[in-house]
Amino acid sequence: REAPVLAIDGPGGAGKGTISRLVAARLGWHLLDSGALYRLTALAAVKHELPLDDEPALARVAADLDVVFVADNTTTRVLLEGEDATTAIRTEQVGDAASRVAALPAVRQALLQRQRDFRQAPGLVADGRDMGTVVFTDASLKIFLTASAEERARRRHLQLREAGVDASLSSLLKEIQARDARDMQRSVAPLKPAIDAIMLDTTRLTIPEVVDQLTELLTERG
Ligand code: C5P
Repeated sequence: REAPVLAIDGPGGAGKGTISRLVAARLGWHLLDSGALYRLTALAAVKHELPLDDEPALARVAADLDVVFVADNTTTRVLLEGEDATTAIRTEQVGDAASRVAALPAVRQALLQRQRDFRQAPGLVADGRDMGTVVFTDASLKIFLTASAEERARRRHLQLREAGVDASLSSLLKEIQARDARDMQRSVAPLKPAIDAIMLDTTRLTIPEVVDQLTELLTERG
């Protein structure tokens, strides 16, 4: 029997990254940050000066991605072609470029097996947009994590401020809404809950509350 998977999908800024990392740590499971693979593909494309709509070239970049994830106690560092790309992949520009390359079917196809390879004993927490609908359709538990766009903008604003970046709340809200629209309207693997997903709105929940709810749900599923 294959290792169990907890699939956590939802729009950007709903807290998936933080929640997935904490749940994986609590369970002692592996973690897949699938968004990082799309971000790395975008960053590699920019590095090699490829246009973000050259589908065959971008699919080759995705297939040949030279990436190493190095987990230490609290964070995971990522090396792209041997260079630390941990912070470089987190900028709004790379996020925006990622959602463009993620709309290309050949890119998604090229990353499919690489994502499935993360499924190893004792289990995997998979964070993304299509974990429950495409990549791990047989996941033990599928969660669709949401929060209002305003709340997500507020959280990102706080996060950026802690990192010393001064961004306007209204422009963050606009970027979040534009990214949501692109992720939901694309024709391949659009962002939508799996039919068997449990919806969890985190707008009024704290991070520990969400982590508790998810581990309880997983225990119930056995
Ligand atoms: O989650 P994160 O913001 O890092 O993802 C960056 C972009 O990658 C998303 O906006 C989305 O377009 C794309 N993505 C995707 N499928 C996934 C994960 C991310 O299309 N499973």
